[in-house]
Amino acid sequence: MSERWTPDSWRAKPVKQMPDYPDAKALADVEAQLASFPPLVFAGEARNLKKALARVAKGEAFLLQGGDCAESFAEHGANNIRDFFRVFLQMAVVLTYAGAVPVVKIGRIAGQFAKPRSSPMEKVGDVELPSYRGDIVNDIAFTKEARIPDPQRQLNAYRQSAATLNLLRAFATGGFANLASVHQWMLGFIKDSPQSRRYKELADRISEALDFMRACGLDLESHPELRGTDFYTSHEALLLGYEQAMTRVDSTTGDWYATSGHMIWIGDRTRQLDHAHVEYFRGIKNPIGLKCGPSLKGDELIRLIDVLNPDNEPGRLTLINRFGADKVADHLPGLIRAVEREGRVVVWSCDPMHGNTITSTTGYKTRPFDRILSEVKTFFAVHTAEGTHAGGVHLEMTGKDVTECIGGARAISEEDLNDRYHTVCDPRLNAEQSIDMAFLIAELLKQERAGRVRPMPAAAGL
Ligand code: TRP
Ligand code: MN
Repeated sequence: MSERWTPDSWRAKPVKQMPDYPDAKALADVEAQLASFPPLVFAGEARNLKKALARVAKGEAFLLQGGDCAESFAEHGANNIRDFFRVFLQMAVVLTYAGAVPVVKIGRIAGQFAKPRSSPMEKVGDVELPSYRGDIVNDIAFTKEARIPDPQRQLNAYRQSAATLNLLRAFATGGFANLASVHQWMLGFIKDSPQSRRYKELADRISEALDFMRACGLDLESHPELRGTDFYTSHEALLLGYEQAMTRVDSTTGDWYATSGHMIWIGDRTRQLDHAHVEYFRGIKNPIGLKCGPSLKGDELIRLIDVLNPDNEPGRLTLINRFGADKVADHLPGLIRAVEREGRVVVWSCDPMHGNTITSTTGYKTRPFDRILSEVKTFFAVHTAEGTHAGGVHLEMTGKDVTECIGGARAISEEDLNDRYHTVCDPRLNAEQSIDMAFLIAELLKQERAGRVRPMPAAAGL
């Protein structure tokens, strides 16, 4: 693939998972409008994230990536964003403190609207209609009109992303994320839970540490790293027309960047070497992700890396593994060995959600907490055995008290799913399950650190 790349060179390739818009002119008008709108993120921010991810690749930091399976227009509101961000901060602080590593924070948010589907059609009873492909494409209601792809929705998705990102930036740097507020991030509804006790203990210790440093004469207010955090956005860049419209030249370097989010990833269903998504991704300079499912073989992965990260740039490529708890031990070692043999630098991240989806006896798509945890544990164990770094996790989660995944500390049952099953797509960890998961991952990080053999300092002259 040494052919010339342009933001639209993907259009000459075969493409999967793209909607059929009935009105080509209306689509072209929307894409032209989007192309004239301001970028959502700046190239310099994407470069900073790439540097942070390079540290993860070296084993010096941990990646926490998470958010909704799919954002929706109906649930766009300040409370939702705040609740998500608050739980995300709690998880980050648990990992930073208990795991004692810097945490790179990336939300699946402010652009996560387009969904790949296993079938182009959905059948309910005798009626068959086009599948719902996310709010950026069509409407979830099961009617003929609702399911027609409507390009106007892309404008709505852009505006929602801009508003969400604006609030997240304010939260991350405007005081909400100040470490001194670590107690205020406690959520009302987890006050009586085991996680809340554990979290409060941890928050107490952080406050004590801050008080200690203050007593030692350190002026904490003069340390901006304590007052805020770097929070980045990401989504699956599935809808390539939208992505192309948001692709811009960075004036300081002359390079092309996707400006729809800081990091974007390629889905497991659209990662064909000679297809449109890989073509688009190879030309942009952002840090990118590649979802790796059970069908991906080591040699194929290396060919993909050749195209997606030809200069072996650290932080450029995150491999997001999603095998399933029962498959990860079989599939991951082969991929790790191929990557190590070829000397490629990548971030290894574990998506324990997508390989562990089942249908409950009550008819809901769900994920057992134990299986999610089991995939994460095996992911860490495999990396320990291979001598590589378990770099991060990729979770579908929400700040709300939903009942979508079964199990966890509250032992949500199959019957409970009926109570608060709100997702428009895949089942997410609720706030308590997310914090629970963070504590369990922190344990694994501690073990990883303890098991790492430190080189003996050179005994000079002896
Ligand atoms: N800036 C540091 C970091 O992001 C410390 C920090 C500030 C922090 N606020 C935070 C860490 C909130 C976790 C959560 O790591
Ligand atoms: Mn999903």
